[in-house]
Amino acid sequence: MSNFPEDFLWGGAIAANQAEGGYLEDGKGLSIADILPVGEERIQKIPLKLSDDTFYPNHEAIDFYHRYEADIDLFAELGLKCFRTSIAWSRIFPNGDEAQPNEAGLKYYDALFDKLIAKGIEPIVTISHFETPLYLVTTYGGWRNRALIEFYDRYTQVIFERYSDKVTYWMTFNEINHAHTLPLIAAAVDVLDIESEQKRLEVIYQASHNMFVASSKAVINGKKVNSNNQIGCMLSLSPIYPATCNPKDVFESYQLRRRSLFYGDVQLKGKYPTYFQRIVDENHLSLDIRPEDLDIIASGTCDYLGFSFYRSSLHESGMKILGNTGGLLGKKNPYLKENKWGWPIDPLALRYVCNELTDRYDKPLFIVENGIGLKENLDSKGQIIDIERMDYLKKHVEAMSEAIKDGCHILGYTWWGPIDIVSAGTGEMEKRYGFIYVDKNNDGTGSLKRVKKASFNYYKQVIASNGEAL
Ligand code: BG6
Repeated sequence: MSNFPEDFLWGGAIAANQAEGGYLEDGKGLSIADILPVGEERIQKIPLKLSDDTFYPNHEAIDFYHRYEADIDLFAELGLKCFRTSIAWSRIFPNGDEAQPNEAGLKYYDALFDKLIAKGIEPIVTISHFETPLYLVTTYGGWRNRALIEFYDRYTQVIFERYSDKVTYWMTFNEINHAHTLPLIAAAVDVLDIESEQKRLEVIYQASHNMFVASSKAVINGKKVNSNNQIGCMLSLSPIYPATCNPKDVFESYQLRRRSLFYGDVQLKGKYPTYFQRIVDENHLSLDIRPEDLDIIASGTCDYLGFSFYRSSLHESGMKILGNTGGLLGKKNPYLKENKWGWPIDPLALRYVCNELTDRYDKPLFIVENGIGLKENLDSKGQIIDIERMDYLKKHVEAMSEAIKDGCHILGYTWWGPIDIVSAGTGEMEKRYGFIYVDKNNDGTGSLKRVKKASFNYYKQVIASNGEAL
């Protein structure tokens, strides 16, 4: 007998900007993701405008904007029960601050969700996935500006009213806890260049606060529109281990983890945690946090915790902190193998994290991203036999099953990138996560043809057996 509940949501996840392309079609405005080139620097240093001689991988991506019907047919064949994607905010409000939405953008998501539903696949929506309209960045400075609370409110009101009969599960901000290290999150593109630590932290915490208020308003309004709506937060929660038993490594790793969980603490518990005051005092932060904001945060707690999990990392005291898990990849873990991008493969860490989060929050969890990026080419028979991906999937499903036995309430599991898409971190097409190969290269060449990999039938069998046949 399967250990997974009957209604477990097996699925796949993408983000609009990494798949759709059609970057200016049907009235869409530019988003912050549309100005990112290829390369590891792209998420650290964000230029504010397009340049003629640069290739932008997200502009066409895998052309999901035009090919979604055939792709969804493949997802249905795979047996997906749900499909997570984001709504590109700038399709609905091209600049972000308009009074009226763009009807053509709204129609696109109507058609997309209708197609999913017709195929028996439940749409799951990320409201903002690294896709803030560029105009809100250039004109308002991104989320450090309270004005964005109102623009987000208008946007969420429109999409809740339009899609609440089609969508039940929503997430307010993708990987919000990356606000410290990825300028994309708070759409504060200069944040990493601010030399004064005090000013930098002020921007980060002010922007985070504004996002907390916006997220809570979305929870409150979304439930008013339809009380069935389930509105979650979304954090990047691959874990961090201390590199040694040196108490300094242990405590610094704990503090780093708490810097991430801070976001869950506010969004799920509805108040700032007690440790926050010391951060404010010691860094002399002057933040605009109003009493009415705190009331909103208290009333708009998220229904569940969505999170991404890919790997673990090791932190040693004094290491330069680049990611939310310490050094970007952390110290090398001698017990773990890595993929080509240096991401350690650690299925037991998924069970560990599910338990950690259940103990801390006692709310439903939704594993909305998990997967492995591999470099792959079609072989002489035109196939890809991706044993490594099947092995990764098998071990992570086993870990999830153990976590359920441990008592964790897990709503579902959406594999990251069931079809190859543009990498968020590097802009590469050739960092492939899919069960479906897309013929497209890093330089934008390729026919865009779709080919099922060996893992396609494997995941199909996992879903069909509700996690039994591994
Ligand atoms: C998560 C993001 O951080 O990781 C996704 O939510 C991203 O947008 C995924 O694609 C995998 O990272 P990458 O850099 O391999 O695409």
